[in-house]
Formats: sequence, C-alpha cells, structure tokens
Amino acid sequence: MLEPERILRLEADAVVLLDQRLLPLEEVDVRCESAADVAEAIRTMVVRGAPAIGVAAAYALALAAEHGEDLDAADRVLRDSRPTAVNLAWALDEMRDDPTRAHARRIHRDEVERCRRMAAHTADLLSPGTRALTHCNAGGLATGGYGSAVGALLAAWERGLLEHVWVDETRPLLQGARLTAWELEHASIPHAVIADAAAASLMRAGEVDCVITGADRIAASGDTANKIGTYSLAVLARHHGLPFYVVAPSTTVDLRTPDGGAIPIEERDPAEVTERFPARNPAFDVTPAGLISAIVTESGVHRAPFEPALAGAMAV
Ligand code: MRU
Repeated sequence: MLEPERILRLEADAVVLLDQRLLPLEEVDVRCESAADVAEAIRTMVVRGAPAIGVAAAYALALAAEHGEDLDAADRVLRDSRPTAVNLAWALDEMRDDPTRAHARRIHRDEVERCRRMAAHTADLLSPGTRALTHCNAGGLATGGYGSAVGALLAAWERGLLEHVWVDETRPLLQGARLTAWELEHASIPHAVIADAAAASLMRAGEVDCVITGADRIAASGDTANKIGTYSLAVLARHHGLPFYVVAPSTTVDLRTPDGGAIPIEERDPAEVTERFPARNPAFDVTPAGLISAIVTESGVHRAPFEPALAGAMAV
C-alpha cells in the first residue's frame, strides 16, 4: 500500500502533495505554503478524490492557523475550491474548533482507518473468483491511504476472493487508466484497463461479476454522486443483473442534502474534453438510490431503504 504520508502530509512550513496529474509517469511533490496554494492544488487536481481533498484542506487550515492567516478567508477559499465532494466541507467544519496539526493528522489517520473497515465489510459481500469493474480512482490516492473501492479490492485480493479487475479508463482525465491501474499494479492485482464504452459488452459477455465504485457525496435518500460515467455503469449493471456497490466513508454521507437533485455537480473546463470544438464537461453524475445494491461505510453494509439505514449508521 502507498504510505499515507507519501500521498499528502504536513511538513514544518508546507502541505506537501504527490502531484496526481503526473502519475504514473513521474512522482513529483508539490509544496503548498498557504491555504490559497492548497485550494489551487485542489482545484487543479494535484490532489483529488473526496476524502483526500478533505484531508488536504484540514492540513491547509492547520498551516494557516500556525501562520496567523485569517482563518475565515482560508476556510472560504478552500471550501470553494471544488463543490461536489462533501468531505471538503466536512473536514473544514471539523477543524473549526481545533485548527491544529494534531487534529488534521488525526482526521487523516481516521480516514485511512475507515477505509480499512469498509473494505473488510465489502469483501464479505464477494465470492471467490470475483471479476470486478471499477470506475475513476477510489484508491489510496483518493482517500489519503488504502482506498475505498480499491481498498475493497485489496481486501478481497488478500482473502483470495478476487480474480480480476476491469479498470474504466475514466474520460476525460483518465483517473482509472493512470491512477487505479498504477495502484493495482503496485498491489500485484490482475487488471486490465478498458475504454469506458467497453463496459456494456464485457457485461453482456459474462465477464463482469459486480461493479464497485467510490462516492463524492451520498444524499440522505442514498442517491450518490460520483465521477461522470458512474450512473451509466449502474444502469448497465441493473440491465445485466449485476450488483452495484458503493463504498464510501461516513464523511461522504450528507444527510443535510435530501436527494441527488440537491447535490451540486461540478462543471469543469470544456478544454479537458476537447480544445478543438465546443464541449461540455460535467465532472460527476448522480446514481439514483434505486440502482444501488448496497452502500458500504465503515459501520457496515447498508441496503434499501437507504434513508433509515444511512440515518441509523450516522447516528452511531
Ligand atoms: O474528480 P475526482 O478525481 O476528484 O473524482 C473522484 C471520484 O469520483 C472518486 O470516485 C470519489 O472521490 C471517491 S474517492 C474515494
């Protein structure tokens, strides 16, 4: 497993981030010396993935406090850096009363620990010989260590339940082809990258047993925002009678957002899709709760009706 401090850490005078834009070709650190620097790194996806941007924001606020920066302004610039993943706002809310580096480090450690727990719960759902399909990168890079959906694949692999992983390349920024494949290679898990459009025919051919993804925000209803293309996979999984599992920590569950319609969806620069023609670039979509077989958090496996299940899990 990629060490959590390798992915992101707080040094004496900087938040240091492994530049995820350059992986897997180069392993380069980016040093951020202010909250504004970290906000820019989140916006430009030096660091990305819902829990990881929350941890980065927590480190940024701790650094801002030590530097005597205006904490309201630091909070604002970080909060506004990306809109969809609720982990960002969650981490900043957490840091408010205790903006110290010890607290930020605890948030980081806790996220990794939550990953290990939900991964174990997800592996309990899988049978020997599983061929799983995953989308985007919900690995250690996205959570600050171990991973949610990829963590579940690691746990399944360690138990001898996993045969193969299909990795959606994940247009337009290729988090699957660049980051998930790199993490699976490190773990020596058999995998193959596929064009996003190949999922349907692989399912039709009987080569996929389940779909496992992460999440950026789970509404009270269970409607789930994740990387653009996740919704299509859920529709495909339902059509082919395959289970569709969402693996995410409680820090991704937002009971104050009633349903998917209220989740803000980030629109990114159309140039990420094509620079030559007009383009549209929604970065996330919402999978309706009705297409989700189970949502797995650190507290266990939650099934429909999700509203009481999630409310109960968050109350524990
Ligand atoms: O735009 P990104 O790369 O930040 O999107 C990330 C995802 O959609 C992940 O699946 C999600 O954040 C879960 S990460 C454990």
